[in-house]
Amino acid sequence: MGRKFFVGGNWKMNGSKKTLGELAASLGKANLPEDTEVVVSPPFIYLSYIRDTLVSKIAVAAQNCYKVPSGAFTGEISPAMIKDCGASWIILGHSERRHVFGESDELIGQKVAHALAEGLGVIACVGEKLDEREAGSTEKVVFAQTRVIADNVKDWSKVVLAYEPVWAIGTGKTASPQQAQEIHEKMRHWLKDNVGKEVADSVRIIYGGSVTAATCRELAGMADVDGFLVGGASLKPEFVHIIRARQKE
Ligand code: 13P
Repeated sequence: MGRKFFVGGNWKMNGSKKTLGELAASLGKANLPEDTEVVVSPPFIYLSYIRDTLVSKIAVAAQNCYKVPSGAFTGEISPAMIKDCGASWIILGHSERRHVFGESDELIGQKVAHALAEGLGVIACVGEKLDEREAGSTEKVVFAQTRVIADNVKDWSKVVLAYEPVWAIGTGKTASPQQAQEIHEKMRHWLKDNVGKEVADSVRIIYGGSVTAATCRELAGMADVDGFLVGGASLKPEFVHIIRARQKE
């Protein structure tokens, strides 16, 4: 199978030119494993600056974009602009976009299609809320969100799926390795049944939600956990430990 381990740092709306520049420079000096793909995602105003500051082997992702190349859409940015700033990935469908900013599945699907058509890699996020988990609807919610993404993907080699249970994001409540593995495995089965075996075997499914240096190793040991999307801990020195989660220390 050989899915390359993938670790993304989602810096969300945090930091300053100074602090993020220092963070980017420190990643360049860190001992990062060759067999792990690393992507960091600064606020979009810093995309060019972080691209210029980072070592080339670390890629840069934007945190959101709109669904068309240009036009009268005040406050929005397009994949073409993101690429123009040297970034090569985009995070779409993040729970904060869905639940704080009310982005619909339909809009997220349109963004996925446009970002892929423009040549960006897409980190597409799915995940259930606490009440949905407690109501036993986790699979229904996750599969419905995955369906909309899948309907808008032609080339799966440019897509990473991120399972981020909303109840685990920023709460300090990491999903247990068993909880993460259970959903990742079911997502892979869903992909096999609905897209195809080759895609199911090759697509990276990464986990996000309160991943820390303390929780990353056991999670990384699960068969269907192919990496992480890290929020808070990606702003700290422990991010390097998370990138090294699969290395023998
Ligand atoms: P935390 O790691 O801060 O819980 O955030 C996870 C996340 O939302 C990554 O996209």
